[in-house]
Amino acid sequence: MTNSVGSAPVVEEWPSGDQLDTGTPNVARVWDFYLGGKDNFAADRKAAELLNQACQRVGAPTGAEVARENRAFLGRAVTYLASRGIDQFIDLGAGLPTRRNVHEIAQAVNPAARTVYVDYDPLVVSHGRALLADTPQTIMIRADVRGTSSLLEDPALRDHLDLRRPVAVLLVAVLHLLPDDEQPAKIVTEIRDRLAPGSCLALTHVSSDSRPSAATVVAAEFTRLGVTTPFPVPSPRSAGSLTGGTWSSRVWCFPHGGGRTRTTGSRDRTPGGCTPA
Ligand SMILES: C[S@@+](CC[C@H](N)C(=O)[O-])C[C@H]1O[C@@H](n2cnc3c(N)ncnc32)[C@H](O)[C@@H]1O
Repeated sequence: MTNSVGSAPVVEEWPSGDQLDTGTPNVARVWDFYLGGKDNFAADRKAAELLNQACQRVGAPTGAEVARENRAFLGRAVTYLASRGIDQFIDLGAGLPTRRNVHEIAQAVNPAARTVYVDYDPLVVSHGRALLADTPQTIMIRADVRGTSSLLEDPALRDHLDLRRPVAVLLVAVLHLLPDDEQPAKIVTEIRDRLAPGSCLALTHVSSDSRPSAATVVAAEFTRLGVTTPFPVPSPRSAGSLTGGTWSSRVWCFPHGGGRTRTTGSRDRTPGGCTPA
């Protein structure tokens, strides 16, 4: 059964039985709660509140603030990219469909825009597919950003998008969920090098550079609460190699493809900033 929240439908019936663990806080559902969504359970809401409190204790922005700022950045980035003529979007670590989704923002600029949502969490994908049923030009696939080759070779993705043409890849609030030894910077490079000339990449990333103790406390709270995806404390080096700042968000465009990068978006230390070329 579905009803509607904002522009996104809400599926009231999640998968049942062993598939659905409602007692463990799920990072996508916690995020959904922060964004005002209804696709979350009591354990998610409780964890969200406790994480907010941990952030407040150390003077860091709360999870809710971070989620809203990230979402605002996502909206500005997609509008900007669609306005530049990009009509294909790959949203990696997409989370649950919520208000102002990528496909809606892109299609508001160009009704022909096509979107592939990608998440590694099977529950997010099955629920997301139900939410997106009957949504034109939009699919959701299950894949892991750590497997860039198989991800970009996914038959459904390749059937939906033409990777010989420019595409925008969105990595919003996901790479900092990878520990250093999973080499997030290498993942970014591998994706970038496989994109057609004219493609763009938009990402946000949290770093511990300016307030290491705050990041440590929040990471410990993720672990204590048993959130499905742990939050490792990103080292200054790994965060800096991606974005070079505290909460950073950037849009890069690759006019030549093949790794010949030109940075056309400038860093904005305000969370969610996106500066067009
Ligand atoms: C904090 S949410 C961000 C959602 C969305 N990008 C946004 O900004 O609103 C992070 C999402 O990334 C997903 N995720 C975490 N690690 C991932 C991985 N290795 N591959 C794909 N998705 C991942 C989680 O399941 C979750 O849905």
